[in-house]
Amino acid sequence: MSHAQTKYQKNRSDAICKCAGRELHSAETTNHDGVGDSHKHLADLPNYYWHTEPHGFFGLFEKSIDFHDTMNRMLRVKSPNKTPFNYLETIAIHEGAELASAHGMVGTPIYQSSTFEMRPDDELSSVRYTRLNNGPNHLALNKKMAALEGAEAAVVTASGMASISVTLLATLGKQGHVLLPTALYGGTYAFATEYLEQLGHSYSWINIDDEKIWEKNLKPNTRVFWIESVSNPTLQIPDFKKYLAFCKKHKLISVIDNTFLSPYNFKPLELGFDLVIQSCTKYLNGHSDVTAGSVAGSAQWIEKIKTMTNLFGGVLDPHACFLLDRGIKTLSVRVRAHNENALAFAEYLAEHKDVERVIYPGLQDHPHHERAKKYFVGSSGVVCFELKGSLKRTEKFLSSLKIPKIAPSLGGVESLIGLPTNTSNGKLTSREKLALGITPKFIRFAIGIENIADLIADFEQAL
Ligand SMILES: Cc1ncc(COP(=O)(O)O)c(C=O)c1O
Repeated sequence: MSHAQTKYQKNRSDAICKCAGRELHSAETTNHDGVGDSHKHLADLPNYYWHTEPHGFFGLFEKSIDFHDTMNRMLRVKSPNKTPFNYLETIAIHEGAELASAHGMVGTPIYQSSTFEMRPDDELSSVRYTRLNNGPNHLALNKKMAALEGAEAAVVTASGMASISVTLLATLGKQGHVLLPTALYGGTYAFATEYLEQLGHSYSWINIDDEKIWEKNLKPNTRVFWIESVSNPTLQIPDFKKYLAFCKKHKLISVIDNTFLSPYNFKPLELGFDLVIQSCTKYLNGHSDVTAGSVAGSAQWIEKIKTMTNLFGGVLDPHACFLLDRGIKTLSVRVRAHNENALAFAEYLAEHKDVERVIYPGLQDHPHHERAKKYFVGSSGVVCFELKGSLKRTEKFLSSLKIPKIAPSLGGVESLIGLPTNTSNGKLTSREKLALGITPKFIRFAIGIENIADLIADFEQAL
């Protein structure tokens, strides 16, 4: 074992592991090297207990914290609609299934039909046609997404960008103005800069922490304030309370792109947001084999957004609905594993002599760590870092890795890695990228759910 690994293993035993919004002392996993006994000295302390979950989550917890109570409080969904299920894990598996079931099938059938027979008494409003988002697979999935988000209604779309573009256009109305954070997903940035003005709208860039700048950029036609729960790829977290109070005061529609966290880690509607966006391509589907998006919020807003989606044509195909629905069933166990792997990996990187800096909201030195602790179940699976040395060294390191593929995207079971300067933020100017801290060497690591020991061994051989 290398020096960095030994040091990492030692540190893990004393690591402060964030879980369910509280700081918990966690122990390392036991591996085949016999490393892992170091939790024993903590287990002997009277204030700690060793907790093991059947799905593999285990660790040492302070006695004052009841693992189940805390997790259950965080994962209980406050749904405005009637549902027999209280918790996110159950909703992810069962909610909406009855709308697509047939012949007693336990698995969800795929209704691969572009149109449906009309009944003699059907009116225009009851026409069933797949582009209209009303096939059985859509109805089931829309219901499930609404319940997961704790929303009155939801609509699934053909991609995260379909959800983003249609939501922006629907909420902006006629000649609207939107406040956009400078730390923003590259696709949203490109849509705003390339199309909003062409379509008669306008936008202003704001810093997510500077309320004075928000005030300064308000216009009589400002209708929307757009944020990301964790910005891509700089991993900044807004002060949600301050943001929501501002939206309320100025009657702005509050929209949040929650892709980086998924409803498992954060449910913004419970805090009072109007609309929540997901790129379901990421954690919700989780297997890097579907492109999809969703929007959730009040029934009134979702009806407007659904109508617009139907007319722009960005509907999700029934087979993709089936795959997404199947992926969602394992959302909770996957995201839990992403959370654990990412925190452990961030701690490993933070100790490594070849690493210049690490950004992960679960680390105590992250500038918005307190916000992550307060609002999130976990900080999800994206860890950003820079290596010491030249860009050439970074490129050599990336191409030497055997497990993570160099590819854009995140949220899949397999680890992906890359340089956002060439991918998600490729459209920004060099100056804009540098202002956000996205240097050419800035690495975004979307950790999968592989065994952490294999990932560390791979990084060690590549460094
Ligand atoms: C934060 C965020 N929002 C939206 C999207 C767009 O999603 P999609 O690729 O499904 O259109 C992405 C894609 O990377 C993203 O990271």
